[in-house]
Amino acid sequence: MFKTKRYLNFLMFASLIGILASCSYDFIEYPAPPPPPDPEDTISFSLQIEPIFNNNDKCTACHKEGFAKGNFTTGAAYNAIVPSLINLTVPEESIIYWHAHPSSDVHTQKKLSLAEADLILFWIQKGALNN
Ligand code: HEC
Repeated sequence: MFKTKRYLNFLMFASLIGILASCSYDFIEYPAPPPPPDPEDTISFSLQIEPIFNNNDKCTACHKEGFAKGNFTTGAAYNAIVPSLINLTVPEESIIYWHAHPSSDVHTQKKLSLAEADLILFWIQKGALNN
């Protein structure tokens, strides 16, 4: 009798821990992605993509003239990114999309926000135009 009660207590305790752990992991590891943009939407490189890199020098603090890993400053960014950092066949494999993605481990410097990364992916899906 006593042993059974202890066993039940243990089971309840263990499942409580399990529930708490799964909740917090889901919350921390998997933020809800923004809804995919409408395929009818248009996107402009100069108005929506280039400013991501220059915004408060987020990327251009390093990625500027003379930096071996690409100059992303206004006017230079397009030629630094297209075609070498783009994969038009499999847009998700484009280096400019995944390298500094918030869930990427390869770029130890500043990351893109999820919304910024998704915008870049959408721009590539629309053909990575210089518009
Ligand atoms: C503090 C300096 C610094 C900042 C800020 C920075 N980067 Fe980088 N970036 C680097 C360095 C150093 C490398 C090469 C080593 C590496 O991949 O981490 C690199 C590499 C890259 C590459 C790979 C280029 C290639 O030719 O393989 C991409 C893409 C990239 N960065 C994107 C970004 C984006 C987008 C931002 C802004 C969100 C950014 N970086 C901000 C320093 C920086």
